[in-house]
Amino acid sequence: MGGHQSFPRVTLPKERVAIVTGANTGIGYETAKWIAMMGATVILACRSEDRAREAMVRMNTDFKLEKERKTIGVVDYPELSLEFMKLDCASLESVMDFVEEFKLSGRQLHVLVCNAGIGLHKQEYTGDGYELMFQVNYLSHFLLAAHLLPILKTSGEDCRIVLVSSEAHRFCEFNLDTIQGNQFNEETFGRLTFYGNSKAFQIMQMFSMNRRLKASNVTVTSLHPGMVETELPRNFQDMKTFICFTSVTKCIGKLKSPYEGAETSINAAVNPELKGVRDVYYDNCKPARIHRVVANTQNQESLWTYTLECLKKRLVISDDIIKTLEGEQVF
Ligand SMILES: NC(=O)c1ccc[n+]([C@@H]2O[C@H](COP(=O)([O-])OP(=O)(O)OC[C@H]3O[C@@H](n4cnc5c(N)ncnc54)[C@H](OP(=O)(O)O)[C@@H]3O)[C@@H](O)[C@H]2O)c1
Repeated sequence: MGGHQSFPRVTLPKERVAIVTGANTGIGYETAKWIAMMGATVILACRSEDRAREAMVRMNTDFKLEKERKTIGVVDYPELSLEFMKLDCASLESVMDFVEEFKLSGRQLHVLVCNAGIGLHKQEYTGDGYELMFQVNYLSHFLLAAHLLPILKTSGEDCRIVLVSSEAHRFCEFNLDTIQGNQFNEETFGRLTFYGNSKAFQIMQMFSMNRRLKASNVTVTSLHPGMVETELPRNFQDMKTFICFTSVTKCIGKLKSPYEGAETSINAAVNPELKGVRDVYYDNCKPARIHRVVANTQNQESLWTYTLECLKKRLVISDDIIKTLEGEQVF
């Protein structure tokens, strides 16, 4: 297909460790599977152990088939190096439990793919008091990345954080006064705006984190996977216009398969040519333009301050985290 870009089939050492959130289905499933099929150890960070373990079995079945087909770039291990760790992005406590368990394991971390997400959800608030899409898609991943940064920073060269955002970020309305949407009710809550906001915040996080990680071994990138046929519409079955739009997109052959949707994430995670590359938003594995609101440094910094305020109870555990976030050398 002319102009189609994918990821290079590289061989990764088993010691290279990647975490993929929401890896049990959709884009995350293919991302985790391919990074593992190229040799790395992949941790499936999922909220359901059953779904994750079932996915691990399916990944190994797919792996066997790929080996039989002699697919280029697939390693010759007897089994993929996969692990499950529980992570519920709707709970900050769950994120902290994940972090503690990972730290206790004493292992290194080279790639963190923040993929788990929900789309166009109805107005709902988490036990922590935040709008659900804000917390699942953005805030929890920010907390996870913040706590894993010291490990990424000491895991050797070329460590990467990949934020799976969306073209829906263009629907964002940046306003810290309405960021949690409490002034809206079920009817007036703009589900696309709030989804778009959560995806915009990921791109803004990329810029803010990179500013503080300059000259370090850790890079942050973000991306749009394309319009992909996954389980994402499960939360907006009642929104007939969107379901209809997805069906039409599928009919005209423009809906990507989960594998095609994962190509941009996999490329951002493994392409050796992207070592040291930061501040890029990819679409179809190529750098793409972002909306001016998310490109605005003042907005990025206001969001940064707001985010640290939301997470202050979870980030004081160690002052080192804040220092690391603020770019001070603490190791
Ligand atoms: N599909 C598209 O067209 C499209 C377009 C642009 C961007 N994206 C982005 O791509 C990413 C992956 O989406 P997808 O299309 O692959 O959707 P999906 O098939 O619905 O997969 C979403 C994954 O996120 C997990 N997840 C949801 N809530 C979670 C929570 N509270 N804690 C932990 N994990 C949670 C799901 O786990 P469960 O199975 O347990 O629910 C699942 O593993 C999302 O960030 C989405 O915003 C998708």
